[in-house]
Amino acid sequence: MIFFETRFNLISRKSFAATLLVLGGLTLICLSACEPVAEIKTYQHSETPFQAKIPKGLPAMSQSDDNPMTVEKIKLGRKLFFDKNLSVDRTVSCASCHDPEKFWTNGKQYGVGVGDRRGTRNVPTLSNVAYQRQFFWDGRAGSLETQVMGPLLNKNEMAMPSNEAVLERLLEDPEYERLFGEAFVDGITIINMAYALASFERTIVAGNAPYDRYMAGDKTAMSKAAIRGLKLFNGRARCNKCHLPPMFIDYSFHNLGVGMDQKNPDLGRYHVFKTESSRGRFRTPSLRDIARTAPYMHDGSVKTLLETVELYDKGGIANSHLSDVLRRKLRLSDQEKKDIVTFMKEGLTSDTVGPVPTGQSEKRPVGTGPTK
Ligand code: HEC
Ligand code: HEC
Repeated sequence: MIFFETRFNLISRKSFAATLLVLGGLTLICLSACEPVAEIKTYQHSETPFQAKIPKGLPAMSQSDDNPMTVEKIKLGRKLFFDKNLSVDRTVSCASCHDPEKFWTNGKQYGVGVGDRRGTRNVPTLSNVAYQRQFFWDGRAGSLETQVMGPLLNKNEMAMPSNEAVLERLLEDPEYERLFGEAFVDGITIINMAYALASFERTIVAGNAPYDRYMAGDKTAMSKAAIRGLKLFNGRARCNKCHLPPMFIDYSFHNLGVGMDQKNPDLGRYHVFKTESSRGRFRTPSLRDIARTAPYMHDGSVKTLLETVELYDKGGIANSHLSDVLRRKLRLSDQEKKDIVTFMKEGLTSDTVGPVPTGQSEKRPVGTGPTK
């Protein structure tokens, strides 16, 4: 609700400002006795449609009906994403934890926010986030647009005290007046900020991995070990029960027992649903580019891909709500474990990655949108 109040406050604030400008203009006319009128500063609002280039292997990207992507929104979203002024002490931006150089994670076990305050969950990559349907490890946000206020107001992340405080920061920077004015009819509002950030995030896509070329018919795209790994992945190791191609997600939540052996474990989905069966369930993450985003799992407790396979091999971590799929041990040989790891490392690492705003693109950046 605060959202909407803020929006209307702002509209009235803007129209008030516009009235002042007009009055100022009229005064000028009178003073200069019919000299040409001083120009009123307005920004050209436009909605240049943005069509993301989808790398090989990824499905078509559905656009948000409420928030179609435009070049203007993406340009604004990019600035917001890297802006440290949006945190209480002006030291942390979205990119501090979702660092493009670290494949949109922070490479650490947990998120680290203002004053080096540590969160309790591992930072998910934002690569291919447009294909997610539920956000956060427990799926508590239903869209990228509604997700945004989470980190801005979280005391372990950017720690802003309120929506109003965020608005004030936006109003401080004259460039925002221009960029918001270009992107949105009603200029600077919290909702527009969320829309712009979401639009930018949707441009972060990665694909055209060896797996995609292999599936498209190029049988030389993956090594023999990776092909053996893929067969196990879809066969005896049962990974594809939950990590379904092409995104290697099932849009669902499962209990592998990770962290359940700790004191006061994070109960994941239980925080959203409060039902017994949701205890210890977390969202199935995508495995695309998984070799680039260690450490693993919601609590960052697993350091390597081999360790993740070993975790499944022994049937997860015992607890009363363990997923049925995991209850049977896999009994993989060492070679088989290695093959599955090779499939993930080699087969699922994208060749086409973008956007990488610092210019450090790997091969051909895609979906880069405007660069400034
Ligand atoms: C202090 C580190 C930190 C900062 C700063 C931060 N994030 Fe995150 N982000 C996280 C962590 C940790 C999670 C997972 C939290 C959870 O599951 O409860 C997350 C989750 C997300 C997700 C969900 C991804 C998914 O696949 O579910 C999105 C989207 C996101 N952040 C975007 C942003 C944006 C936009 C900003 C800036 C406004 C931002 N983050 C700032 C640490 C951070
Ligand atoms: C029952 C569903 C299920 C099955 C079967 C399954 N996974 Fe997962 N996988 C998940 C869930 C859920 C998580 C996140 C769990 C958490 O964080 O607590 C996950 C996490 C992972 C991660 C870490 C991802 C990250 O971003 O941190 C890897 C790697 C992984 N799985 C690989 C595999 C492999 C390899 C197999 C087969 C041997 C497999 N999975 C089988 C559901 C499953």
